[in-house]
Amino acid sequence: MVYGDVPEIAALERMVNPHPWTETMFLEELRLGSLCRVLTKDSGTITAYLVARLLWDEWHLLAVAVAPANRGLGLARTLVQELIVHATQTAARAVMLEVRASNLPAANLYASLGFVPTGVRKNYYAGSYKAEDAIVMERRIARER
Ligand SMILES: CC(C)(COP(=O)(O)OP(=O)(O)OC[C@H]1O[C@@H](n2cnc3c(N)ncnc32)[C@H](O)[C@@H]1OP(=O)(O)O)[C@@H](O)C(=O)NCCC(=O)NCCS
Repeated sequence: MVYGDVPEIAALERMVNPHPWTETMFLEELRLGSLCRVLTKDSGTITAYLVARLLWDEWHLLAVAVAPANRGLGLARTLVQELIVHATQTAARAVMLEVRASNLPAANLYASLGFVPTGVRKNYYAGSYKAEDAIVMERRIARER
């Protein structure tokens, strides 16, 4: 992801996230040096993105999404697997994330990659329509000796 990608990513984000990140939020992650990845078609159109930030010895998966027309092709799996490899290479303890309690596609994705639920944040997603709990999930990273 480069700064010039941000308007296209933010437009995709508005399509897929009920509480979308703003362009400023993506720009801030780039500025901070967070892990910001995109996948593109041959044409250059962005199909998927992931943002994660290292806090102490834990990577926090902050955002991952795939354009609706490109779902079910393994793109999210590719991005999250890359993050797990990156976490291993940076000697992190774990990858952490929060997922909306009703988001079964995402919860299935994470469970299939070894994430386990470790807690619940009540009413974490406060919204104009209805607040919803977040499930906290963790993927431990085996440290190489
Ligand atoms: C969740 C999301 C990122 C999955 O992206 P994707 O590229 O379609 O997922 P993949 O093709 O890599 O699928 C990997 C696994 O995720 C799970 N999964 C994906 N879509 C699913 C669905 N509709 N129903 C149930 N499980 C699903 C499956 O376990 C799947 O493995 P399988 O194909 O072997 O069954 C995508 O639906 C999305 O962008 N959703 C909106 C944004 C979002 O919710 N992001 C997560 C925030 S925590």
